[in-house]
Amino acid sequence: MDSREPPSPTFASVLDGLWSQLAEGQRLRHSPFHQAVLATCAARGPSARYVVLRQVDRERGILGFHTDRRSEKWTELERDPRVALCFFGQNVQVRAEGRAALHADDAIADLAWQRTGLMSRRCYLAHPAPGARLDAPGSGLPAHLAKHRPEEAESAAGRANFAVVQVVLQQIEWLHLAFEGHRRARFQRVGQGPWRGEWRVP
Ligand SMILES: Cc1cc2nc3c(=O)[nH]c(=O)nc-3n(C[C@H](O)[C@H](O)[C@H](O)COP(=O)(O)O)c2cc1C
Repeated sequence: MDSREPPSPTFASVLDGLWSQLAEGQRLRHSPFHQAVLATCAARGPSARYVVLRQVDRERGILGFHTDRRSEKWTELERDPRVALCFFGQNVQVRAEGRAALHADDAIADLAWQRTGLMSRRCYLAHPAPGARLDAPGSGLPAHLAKHRPEEAESAAGRANFAVVQVVLQQIEWLHLAFEGHRRARFQRVGQGPWRGEWRVP
């Protein structure tokens, strides 16, 4: 073997690597995997925007994020739960596809809300709803919150707008960029079965 050849990845090492990058992304604000582009199927066509990665559950194959249930993406997901998430960092692109499970009025959303800090809760106090038309540039937040986090009691009003989206993954694609030649693997699973990998031309 040419000594410049990188060690050949295995399906197991690729899965270990990408799940640990995602887990780090959920934990560390400065990780490139802390946010992903979320693509939905809107009635008018594809729609993409960033979301922050809030939950990584390798066992169940779930990636979660938080959102406002008044947002357009929420309506899109109610209509069509098929989504894709795309990450890039450390020379690795991860494309994850699956179905969104929506949690607004249940114990999953309650627990996530309890764990959400006051500054993040502030986002859910906007009025009118995200996406509503304004006559001038504005945040939608009450003026006194422009420079301050809300008090715990005031933040409670945001709970009604807060929701958790859990994407149950069915396919993950890994692309590693390298001078010696890129590498690409696709993993698929049926239900909660094992991930089955295949190598692809990058
Ligand atoms: C880095 C970054 C992270 C974001 N994270 C979230 C998020 O976790 N949840 C969310 O609803 N919107 C998030 N947003 C805002 C969305 O990208 C989007 O602009 C907003 O939610 C409205 O999207 P919609 O009209 O498709 O619902 C984020 C934006 C950026 C730039």
